[in-house]
Amino acid sequence: MSQRNIAIVGLGTIGTALAKGILKAKLAPREGLVGSTAHPETAKAAEERLGIPVTTDNRALVQGKDTVILAVKPKTVPKVLSEIRDVLTPKQLLISVAAATTTRFVEEGLGKPIPVVRAMPNTPCQIGLGMTAICPGRYARPEHLEVARAIFSSVGRVAQVEDEELMDAVTALSGSGPAYAYIIIEALSEGGVKMGLPRKLATELAAQAILGGAALVLDSGQHPALLKDDVTTPAGVTIDGLMALEEGGLRVALIKAVMAATERGKALSKNSP
Ligand SMILES: NC(=O)c1ccc[n+]([C@@H]2O[C@H](COP(=O)([O-])OP(=O)(O)OC[C@H]3O[C@@H](n4cnc5c(N)ncnc54)[C@H](OP(=O)(O)O)[C@@H]3O)[C@@H](O)[C@H]2O)c1
Repeated sequence: MSQRNIAIVGLGTIGTALAKGILKAKLAPREGLVGSTAHPETAKAAEERLGIPVTTDNRALVQGKDTVILAVKPKTVPKVLSEIRDVLTPKQLLISVAAATTTRFVEEGLGKPIPVVRAMPNTPCQIGLGMTAICPGRYARPEHLEVARAIFSSVGRVAQVEDEELMDAVTALSGSGPAYAYIIIEALSEGGVKMGLPRKLATELAAQAILGGAALVLDSGQHPALLKDDVTTPAGVTIDGLMALEEGGLRVALIKAVMAATERGKALSKNSP
């Protein structure tokens, strides 16, 4: 992607991670990246943190930019859309990361055939290990998806989803996924503590085991079940651990977690935002 002028509306957790990724990957020149927050004091803090101009004036912010990234909370989306709709043109691209907010909702809020790409990143974007799913709105073309792919690649991996209905499942799996991982890490760590390991060491062992296992899945492309079999020596240690996990229903609990979060996402989408 050639360098573009990019505006980020909302420099919170996700907006800040994207700003850092964009600068690091040189997707925009430093003078070509601008952002906004709701309050003058947070704007000043973000300006100092990121070294880019930050305003509270969304209309001025988005005017003439090649790409606008909408990174405010879903409930704030309608307000921001009504502020910027007059100044946006179909030559610009709008990327929305708002959860449970459809491209149709954003397109209707803008009231013009503006290309919209919906994206669902997650918090590991903050350290370049994010996972983002992107999907196109009605007016988005391949070149717009390419821009979105380049932006989110600067903070991790990117996958494209064709059917927007699946974005609720994406949100429930990879958007919320880090929260599930923290529970698993915490629980494994408790197991270590129960068996006498110091808490700090137990947490480090648990987190690195999850990180390493996940990296091996992605790197090898092998089915997780085969990798699990590699660890599980006949009559060894791991099979006893696995039996305890099956007895505790971990597998079903995780499947149900994704189902429940997907249903919640669907319910929120219907009333969105
Ligand atoms: N966090 C996640 O795991 C995650 C994952 C995927 C997608 N998302 C989506 O990403 C979006 C942002 O989430 P977040 O966690 O980054 O939220 P956040 O940390 O609460 O940040 C929200 C940002 O929006 C700013 N803001 C609020 N109203 C604004 C306005 N009218 N104009 C300009 N800026 C405004 C806030 O400024 P002030 O600080 O001044 O209030 C703040 O900088 C949400 O839609 C969420 O659904 C989040």
